[in-house]
Amino acid sequence: MLLDDTDRVLITKEQLAARVAELGKQISADYAGKTPVLVCTLKGAFTFFADLTRAIDVPITTDFVAASSYGSGAVSGGSVQLRKDLDHSILGRDVIIVEDIIDTGITLQALADVMQARKPNSLRICCCLDKPSRRRNGLKADYVGFEIPNEFVVGYGLDYNELYRNLDAVYVLKHSIYE
Ligand code: IMP
Ligand code: MG
Repeated sequence: MLLDDTDRVLITKEQLAARVAELGKQISADYAGKTPVLVCTLKGAFTFFADLTRAIDVPITTDFVAASSYGSGAVSGGSVQLRKDLDHSILGRDVIIVEDIIDTGITLQALADVMQARKPNSLRICCCLDKPSRRRNGLKADYVGFEIPNEFVVGYGLDYNELYRNLDAVYVLKHSIYE
């Protein structure tokens, strides 16, 4: 069974649902009268994105990007390749990048730089999980679901070797799986 590969649950589905509802409320209040575009970073954010968008009650549009992931440390200069780019222009739009987890922050900083160069009206970052102890730049998300310790987690969209995305909560993966 999939769960046998996990050590323990870190964030339950009830905790996720409660926090996502709060984030949705906060974003709805902050963007009252606006129509932000929520940008889902594939693939890891897809579950969080589906829940978060439904917790927001101002009009939104959605778009999707996929950034190629380099191994940690491979790139520090901040260029990122988009395996899938946005479908629509974000010129003048209020953009919220929705990310699954911020680790070193390198990928997301590079993505944010690419987006900023397209001259949106505003740009914010919303992440489900944040590992602040791993950060290698000054990147800070504007909306954070949960700060978590430096453990490798899976589920709720997050993978290890493309597996475990379908677990319905956030679990710590057994060390034996990746060591
Ligand atoms: P970074 O912030 O540029 O180091 O990379 C963040 C990306 O690494 C995330 O979007 C995830 O795809 C992946 N990642 C980092 N930590 C974890 C984890 O604990 N579980 C699953 N994926 C992770
Ligand atoms: Mg990822």
